[in-house]
Amino acid sequence: MKVPAIFKNPQLLTAISCLSLAGCALLASTLAWASTGTDDVLVQLRADDLQVVQAGEVVYQQNCASCHGKQLEGQPDWRTRTPEGLLPAPPHDATGHTWHHADDLLFEITKYGASVVINDPDYRSSMPAYKDILSDEQIIAVLSFIKNSWPDDERQWQEEINGNQTEALLPRRKSSSFLEKFSQ
Ligand code: HEC
Repeated sequence: MKVPAIFKNPQLLTAISCLSLAGCALLASTLAWASTGTDDVLVQLRADDLQVVQAGEVVYQQNCASCHGKQLEGQPDWRTRTPEGLLPAPPHDATGHTWHHADDLLFEITKYGASVVINDPDYRSSMPAYKDILSDEQIIAVLSFIKNSWPDDERQWQEEINGNQTEALLPRRKSSSFLEKFSQ
């Protein structure tokens, strides 16, 4: 699939996503988030490190597959809220929107949960926050496994977002020992 030109323009993408996708709040928050972040650590995934990816697959099957699907396919009708007002789990493959988000945002959604990342304590989601369940290394591994599964076009587009964020955020985060550990 070719990535449409509108994806190169985040504001336009957000506006269009808001018309068509239930996940609009998360996507819109990406823009606000880019300058702040939930924590002060810039995480980079390791989707080309096969050892990390393999470890991530195990974490995925044990912790995520029950909702996001064994093949990353998500739950049926994932764009439609249930009568209780909750969204079903979206796919993590190229048909979903996980690849619309930078590495660090994916890490923060998984670690802290969507409501913390979008700074809305009233936002309800069935997605657990994994900060007391998985280590940072395990979260990086599982997301690296997911990222490794994306086709070239989606990978390339997501790398562009990462590049922009790395430039914006790296100088003030350079001293983090966590960052040093994972950027080697
Ligand atoms: C109990 C079901 C459930 C489990 C288990 C679960 N998730 Fe989710 N996940 C969701 C739902 C539902 C959403 C949609 C977010 C919302 O409710 O707004 C979501 C959203 C996400 C998103 C954001 C995707 C996007 O495009 O915005 C990421 C990243 C994610 N999950 C990663 C994971 C990972 C990694 C695991 C395992 C460690 C996991 N999830 C386990 C239900 C689950």
